[in-house]
Amino acid sequence: MSKLAINGGKPLRSKSAKWPAWPISDAADAKLVAKITASNRWSFDGPTEWKFAEDFAKYCGAPYGLCCANGTVAIQLALEALDIGAYDEVIVPGMTWQATAAACLDVNAIPVLVDVEPDTWCIDLDLAEAAITRKTKAMIVVHLYGCMPDMDRARAICKKHNLYLIEDCAHQHGSEWKGKRVGSLGEIGCFSFQESKVLPSGEGGFNTCQTQRTFERIYSLRNCGRGWKGDLSNTIQSGNFRLTEWQAALLAGGLKRLDKQLKLRDQNAMYLNSLLAEIPGVKPMRRRKQVTLQSYFNFVFRIDTARLNRVSNLKVCQALNAELHLPSHADLDCPYQPLNHCVLYKPHTKRRHRISADYWKAINPKRFKLPVCEDAHFKTGIAVHHSILMGSRNDMEDFACGVEKVLDNIAEPK
Ligand SMILES: Cc1ncc(COP(=O)(O)O)c(C=O)c1O
Repeated sequence: MSKLAINGGKPLRSKSAKWPAWPISDAADAKLVAKITASNRWSFDGPTEWKFAEDFAKYCGAPYGLCCANGTVAIQLALEALDIGAYDEVIVPGMTWQATAAACLDVNAIPVLVDVEPDTWCIDLDLAEAAITRKTKAMIVVHLYGCMPDMDRARAICKKHNLYLIEDCAHQHGSEWKGKRVGSLGEIGCFSFQESKVLPSGEGGFNTCQTQRTFERIYSLRNCGRGWKGDLSNTIQSGNFRLTEWQAALLAGGLKRLDKQLKLRDQNAMYLNSLLAEIPGVKPMRRRKQVTLQSYFNFVFRIDTARLNRVSNLKVCQALNAELHLPSHADLDCPYQPLNHCVLYKPHTKRRHRISADYWKAINPKRFKLPVCEDAHFKTGIAVHHSILMGSRNDMEDFACGVEKVLDNIAEPK
């Protein structure tokens, strides 16, 4: 008789054992949202937005911060604020959500895709340094899933080569490197508040930055080119990338809950990693010793396919979903498609990117070799939504038992 639920066996966890939901809100959030609805201040530099912006910048340990429409736009605004434009090269990891590279295209820069480390899937800084040319203006590091790159080294490389360091913090609100929070470690930090993220408002984004000059520039860029505080004597060309008061209300509520949630997720992730480390054929991700608090957007780990007779990670995900009855937002899945194979990263499908034959050639994602990203996506990587990390120790144990059961029986006949 089959053991695995995917083959008709009994699932390890019953459907009635619920996993934590995401996103969440409380009565105070609903009250503030209703208050805004009843007021005549719904957007455009509203008081709820600016109170949140000040609070979140302070939380990140950054001198300045401001909201914008989403995380993609936050990266675009960061690049434009630093005057990065046509033909400038920007170093980007090959494993990330497509927005990190797409934002570079949106300012006519050239995203130079660099492979990642096998045990963190964060940018490989040896390869990043080797990819620097005369045209390189910036490096975007992504704090990916539940790992951070070596931020001391990233800063040193950028200083040595006179590059801007931009942090894509879309996954990791609150992560700390030697006690300093992400968003305060580079020139500009970029956050997403999309509904799946650890600080959500449906959609939304944020920039942290280090200087008044950069802050004012980002302010203008997100507000149709108006100068700081709406000054029309000092304008530039731009569009509307603002956030609404309702989104800010949800963010204010989420920020109050964030610290407690972060600690719970980090404790659960450490416990789960310790359980997974005992299972033959599972390789947890590496946590650098300088990481003093790790935030998680998705919990990820690797399977040792050589040891497991080349079983595919996709098959393991499907079998795990059948055992664990995760809610659909938390389904187990493979990590991001490498950007040289990504169905949503297609620079050549937009005519506006054809600014010259040279540019067209330079932005072709296929010219980059990303073997580690490919191995993670196609063979070894497994990712599950961070909401499971808001569960109990029993939930973590169920999860690990599910992984063990699947790996023990994955070769059984259907
Ligand atoms: C690493 C990373 N950067 C940027 C973004 C873009 O954020 P948004 O969806 O808010 O535009 C995302 C969104 O998933 C992301 O995961």
